Amino acid sequence: MAKDGLSITDNRTGSSLEIPITQGTIGAMDLRQIKVSEDDFGLMSYDPAFGNTASCKSTITFIDGDKGILRYRGYPIEQLAEGSNYLETAFLILHGELPSKSEYEEWIYDITHHTIIHENIKKFMEGFRYDAHPMGMLLSTVGALSTFYPEAKNIFDENVRKKQIHRLIAKMPTLAAFAYRHGRGLPYAYPDNDLSYAGNFLNMMFKMTESKYKPNPVIERALDILFILHADHEQNCSASAVRAVGSSHVDPYSAIAAGVAALYGPLHGGANEAALRMLNEIGSKDKVPEFIKRVKAGEGRLMGFGHRIYKAYDPRAKIIKETADKVFEVTGMNPLLEIALEVERIALEDDYFIKRRLYPNVDFYTGLIYQSLGFPVDIFPVLFAIPRTSGWLAQWEEMLIDKDTRIARPRQVYVGKDKRDFKAIGKRR
Ligand code: ACO
Repeated sequence: MAKDGLSITDNRTGSSLEIPITQGTIGAMDLRQIKVSEDDFGLMSYDPAFGNTASCKSTITFIDGDKGILRYRGYPIEQLAEGSNYLETAFLILHGELPSKSEYEEWIYDITHHTIIHENIKKFMEGFRYDAHPMGMLLSTVGALSTFYPEAKNIFDENVRKKQIHRLIAKMPTLAAFAYRHGRGLPYAYPDNDLSYAGNFLNMMFKMTESKYKPNPVIERALDILFILHADHEQNCSASAVRAVGSSHVDPYSAIAAGVAALYGPLHGGANEAALRMLNEIGSKDKVPEFIKRVKAGEGRLMGFGHRIYKAYDPRAKIIKETADKVFEVTGMNPLLEIALEVERIALEDDYFIKRRLYPNVDFYTGLIYQSLGFPVDIFPVLFAIPRTSGWLAQWEEMLIDKDTRIARPRQVYVGKDKRDFKAIGKRR
């Protein structure tokens, strides 16, 4: 009996089998040898939502949810938030190593010089209704980019891939800001190559009549930190969507559009908005105990609390809380902060939350910062999509060059009708 193996006895037949265990996993295909008869299809595992199925091997992001650890390419998120900037972190996520000085300069140059979008994109953005949701606009324009860069289909050409990666990271803030300004009837503000990635995004969002927009350095840095924290989070819903769609060998714009679509959903990119609405609903600090009582009685959830993977304090939430303090020194205190702190204080001392290991997640404080920075609520998921683009692209490229990759095609357990004969409409009851 192999030490690194799993012995299985099939009680239906009495037969036994040993399958290898590698890196804490068994190969699901090994189970197919387990059959009750020669013509049996073989045993499958049933795992809706892939709760216990590793769908790939990855070297990008490491998470230990019990210990509250998040690392990109081995670097702790706390160190990157402290010492790096978003574009450097994006390089790390995509290339596996931090850039040298010359690589860094070339990378910044390449991203900065791909921020402008084709004027025709502006034209079709104008076709959206005045109240179009910016996330809906973003997802469709990202997909439409594939029609502007048809060479992007050559996904196995490394240089072509590199070019599309530059374009996507560079153009995402431009599309996002244009979507925002469209909704407000404001003229589009063009990219300013003198500014940083975050600074230029603020410029394209908020520039009015001034000839040169000067971002506040504290706000620019705070946004950059938020971008670092949102850059990747391994095999979540949107990364899995990008990988699955990309496994059909479609161009990267179409694959990333799938990621944006997944992020649009309230269970994924929309929780920060829900947390903000909840704090508004509570209304004041003295109403917090009553609200928590209602949550414990099953009347709704504490939005921005709990996580499928983190069963400890979300390491991103810790950094965001510190960032919030710096932002509020510039913007003035967000009155909802007092309520948020009280919610956290009471929840973390309460048995209900302690027993279920429910802690603030990344979304608990981000909404407060975004609101104080002047971002409207409907742009919140877009602010998530901009930095997550580097993570999606790293996941997409890793999937493409992985020899184990085949087109994503899960199995099902069919529980529908058995064979039956068709009846013409007049003969049906
Ligand atoms: N408030 C109150 N109770 C909660 C909360 C919460 N926020 N989250 C979980 N619980 C309770 C559940 O009622 C359940 O209690 P029970 O055992 O008595 O039935 C227990 O904790 C386990 O909950 P599950 O739903 O099984 O946990 P799961 O891992 O499936 O859910 C999720 C994780 C969806 C994030 C959940 O905690 C939640 O709904 N949180 C609020 C929404 C939110 O903040 N989402 C953002 C996540 S971060 C991100 O996606 C970027």
